[in-house]
Amino acid sequence: MRAWIYEAYGGPEQLRLAELPVPEPRENELLVQVHAVSLNGSDKEGLTGFPAYARIGGFRRPRRQILGSDIAGVVEAVGAKVTRFKLGDRVFGDNLDRMGGFAEFARAGERAMAPIPDGLGFEDAAALPQGAMIALQGMRKARLRPGSTVLVNGAGGSAGSFAVQLARLGGAEITGVDNAGKADFVRSLGADHFIDYAREDFWRAGKQYDVIFDVFARQKASDYVRALKRGGSYFYVGGPVRRMLALLAASPLTRLTTGRRIRLLMVRPNIRDLLEVADMVRAGVIRPAIGAVFPFDRVPDAMRALVEGTALGKVVVRVV
Ligand SMILES: NC(=O)c1ccc[n+]([C@@H]2O[C@H](COP(=O)([O-])OP(=O)(O)OC[C@H]3O[C@@H](n4cnc5c(N)ncnc54)[C@H](OP(=O)(O)O)[C@@H]3O)[C@@H](O)[C@H]2O)c1
Repeated sequence: MRAWIYEAYGGPEQLRLAELPVPEPRENELLVQVHAVSLNGSDKEGLTGFPAYARIGGFRRPRRQILGSDIAGVVEAVGAKVTRFKLGDRVFGDNLDRMGGFAEFARAGERAMAPIPDGLGFEDAAALPQGAMIALQGMRKARLRPGSTVLVNGAGGSAGSFAVQLARLGGAEITGVDNAGKADFVRSLGADHFIDYAREDFWRAGKQYDVIFDVFARQKASDYVRALKRGGSYFYVGGPVRRMLALLAASPLTRLTTGRRIRLLMVRPNIRDLLEVADMVRAGVIRPAIGAVFPFDRVPDAMRALVEGTALGKVVVRVV
């Protein structure tokens, strides 16, 4: 099979096309013929080796040489203990534990995969798992009410593009923060206001929000506290390890002394949530905001779009 592999941390130039044997599924795994794979911030982090958590199991060299966790495809073979799927089933999911989606075939954990509902194509299915799951679980915890004010930091990326749409569904007033090139795109998802992160620090602007949903924590707790209303919550999902640890440590005292919460969102991928967002897409309530679809031979260009900041929402690679 053809696969895009990388053997050292770095930029998209590290990716090279290789011919590899088709992998054998283990007893609890499926072999999936990958039809489409979407990119996430976690692929960029896996490629560059930053933040440090992206190097777990491979400090000097990548532990897994094939990136790509959000896959959609067809079951080609099943391991001996697989009970939920059979050959020919259309499946999708976040294969973060194994990755391997930048290839024609990938081993996937049975528990990570769900059947693709009728009416959902491979590209849309591949665009959902990680980003939509982060956003769904985050917005659920945020308990929005009509009129809640929400700031989504990183609104034009994978998780952010879903978070804006879900906050809109929750009746919130939304401020999206991202690079200036994504302003119209973020507004098209439902944001009422837009802040260009290169021109303005939202925590200095004097405005306060009920909820801040941040895909990548960069500031200290006191900055976020300044931008939260009393009773408000700041949620973060990624960031440099030192920053994340400092925010974790600051959380209890912050709550006690300021009445604001600093909360790490640990996402728990599960089939029920995945099918819930798929149903929302089928019902036309939200959409996977796919900014670009690349053919398989242009995986490095797809990654470049993410690294260089030109990607709008989801970037999808069509494999078959
Ligand atoms: N906690 C968990 O359980 C869990 C699970 C899975 C993933 N994650 C984490 O989730 C995070 C990824 O989110 P994602 O896939 O949505 O990433 P993404 O698609 O790369 O989107 C990130 C967005 O943030 C924007 N951005 C960059 N710098 C910014 C700044 N200073 N202020 C505001 N926005 C900025 C980016 O714009 P540019 O294009 O200009 O850079 C991009 O639009 C990763 O850190 C990943 O590790 C966490």
